[in-house]
Amino acid sequence: MGKNPFLRSAAPPPPRRAYTLTLKNTGQTFAVDPDALPAEEGQTGSVLATLLAHDVEIDHTCGGVLACSTCHIYVRQGGRSAPPPTEEEEDQLDFAPALDASSRLACQCVPDGSEDVVVELPQWKRNLVSEGH
Ligand code: FES
Repeated sequence: MGKNPFLRSAAPPPPRRAYTLTLKNTGQTFAVDPDALPAEEGQTGSVLATLLAHDVEIDHTCGGVLACSTCHIYVRQGGRSAPPPTEEEEDQLDFAPALDASSRLACQCVPDGSEDVVVELPQWKRNLVSEGH
């Protein structure tokens, strides 16, 4: 797991309860076990870490240290179970295209397990993949 030495905000607390993370694009569901969180990039227990642990192809150019905006996702359900974005996350998120009210950076979004979560990868990324760029 990478750490950005310039981050001012404290890391969000890891999930306390088990929950299910669904990737809306594919319909895949992943069980998140707070006692067996993946050691992937991003904050401990982040959506990015969970997706990477299940071999989901999601951009994360900076390695999950809040220095890009390529891990942009939409949290379609269960977004309230994660602490709201910090000012630093909001600042990075401003660089991502096609933002909406549910936009988050996957490496910083850490649900607490109080409800199941549904996320979606932005459409333009899927277009890039399908067009072979
Ligand atoms: S991977 Fe760079 S901000 Fe999330």
